[in-house]
Amino acid sequence: MNLVFTGPPGAGKGTQAAMFHARHGAPHVSTGDMLREAVRDATDLGERASAYMRRGDLVPDELVDAIVRARLAREDCSSGFILDGYPRTLQQARVLGESLARDGRRLDAAVLFAIRDEVLLERLVGRRVCVRCGATYHLSHKRPRTAGRCDLDGMALELRKDDDAETVRHRVAVFRELTGPMVEYYRGEGLLLQVDAELPILKIYKEIRRFIDGRSPRSRGRARGVWAARLGAAPIG
Ligand code: AP5
Repeated sequence: MNLVFTGPPGAGKGTQAAMFHARHGAPHVSTGDMLREAVRDATDLGERASAYMRRGDLVPDELVDAIVRARLAREDCSSGFILDGYPRTLQQARVLGESLARDGRRLDAAVLFAIRDEVLLERLVGRRVCVRCGATYHLSHKRPRTAGRCDLDGMALELRKDDDAETVRHRVAVFRELTGPMVEYYRGEGLLLQVDAELPILKIYKEIRRFIDGRSPRSRGRARGVWAARLGAAPIG
């Protein structure tokens, strides 16, 4: 299955995408992670993107469209992928659709994580991420086994640079302003699943999984059989 996870900052897109990756193997393609890596490595892309990211503004479409196109062209995305945080605008959604169509592919679902603004702030100021692998935790909702250390590699956990309260408010405002037309576009295409992102993490996973299962017979008949088979093999709970 080819999936898009969209929703405001802190809605839980990355948490669910990581879970789907861990359970089903589909690559988790996060534009935020790719951009942060570029900033860390001081590449040309990173230098062009960093000021936008620091302010909580969107990075220009042409930069983001190009990295996604290159990532989805890699072999590991041929059996399915989970796009986390892309597209974010109607223009990006159209570019993605055209690019997939050129390769004879299409999206199977766009999952919108619906959540109130007041919940987002608490989620993001309490979020901690691993300095090495980027695994995500929360001081109350998803604690690491050892305080301040990543369960996966034991490295330190830190607050993301754009997770201070003021930048979070701006990021949420940017999302609310720009994303509506894209959501309506996917609704019109019959691809939209809206989930209540305030539910517990496992319940949200199960809801998305049910939706995908409902669509999988169609994908089983096509080249996406690997993803369908992985879904069939993985326990839902
Ligand atoms: P990006 O990294 O994509 O950030 P974001 O969209 O702002 O989303 P977040 O990663 O902050 O939140 P999330 O929804 O993944 O939540 P998470 O699962 O971590 O983008 C960063 C920047 O890059 C952008 O501002 C922009 O500048 C640029 N950029 C990226 N994509 C772009 C694009 N397409 N175009 C232009 N620019 C782009 O969860 C949050 C916390 O809540 C965690 O602590 C988690 O443990 C906890 N949590 C998760 N689910 C639950 C739950 N159900 N209950 C309780 N707690 C939960």
